[in-house]
Amino acid sequence: TTATFAYEASDQVETVAHRGAAGYAPENTMAAFQKGVDMKADYIEIDVQQTKDGELVVIHDVTLDRTTNGTGYVKDHTLEEIRQLDAGSYFAPEFAGEKVPTFEEVLDEFRGKTGILIELKATYYYPGIEQKVTEALKERNMHLPNNEKIIVQSFEFESMKKMDELLPTVPVGVLTGRATDLSEEKLNEFATYAEYVNPSKSLVNSSLVNEVHERDMGIMAWTVRKKEEVQPLLDAGVDGIITDYPDYPPAHKAE
Ligand code: G3P
Ligand code: CA
Repeated sequence: TTATFAYEASDQVETVAHRGAAGYAPENTMAAFQKGVDMKADYIEIDVQQTKDGELVVIHDVTLDRTTNGTGYVKDHTLEEIRQLDAGSYFAPEFAGEKVPTFEEVLDEFRGKTGILIELKATYYYPGIEQKVTEALKERNMHLPNNEKIIVQSFEFESMKKMDELLPTVPVGVLTGRATDLSEEKLNEFATYAEYVNPSKSLVNSSLVNEVHERDMGIMAWTVRKKEEVQPLLDAGVDGIITDYPDYPPAHKAE
């Protein structure tokens, strides 16, 4: 589209580069995360899963097929096997050779450069993954209050309760695409352990934002893929926009 969009100035809203800047580079690769940083995203969003030999890797699907030249489940492959794969070519030839990053590699490269919104994917496949994430953060002192911009989120609410117990100083978020998760009762329950309720953009309106804010939680909406999707979310009053295109304003949060 050639239309230009005039966004209302906002220094309140965090811009989150979804799977890195997934509109511009192969999702969940170092190249995509670097794009997010270059575009001054306040956070990069990463999807964390676990290999057969218990290592944490950054990939969205539970299978390798869509984003790499491998096949089968992440959980059925060792780190060594997964590191051989090409995670860039599916997106464009110029990204050939991009690898599936490890969780620790992403932490070490990007901590301090941008916030990291850590999603724990499909935790039912990975018993104990919460403990492993905790250890990786603690080893780096990334769990200390106000030390770094870190949020841990998941569609798996029990995992987030566990994270809140393991790392009470790190904010956690619940993800949902279901309106039934946004009843007053459910929001009250989330407020007992979560700092964020992060719904699909289709569920966001100003009354939901108010309900979440009344319970002292923040709200980040996903996933923006078109420019015209931004302003309604700003109007509704969200705290963050999770987007494949982090160069679409909202204006980045003021320093
Ligand atoms: O950050 C929220 C969003 O990433 C959740 O959906 O499928 O892209 O991981 P998905
Ligand atoms: Ca995600």
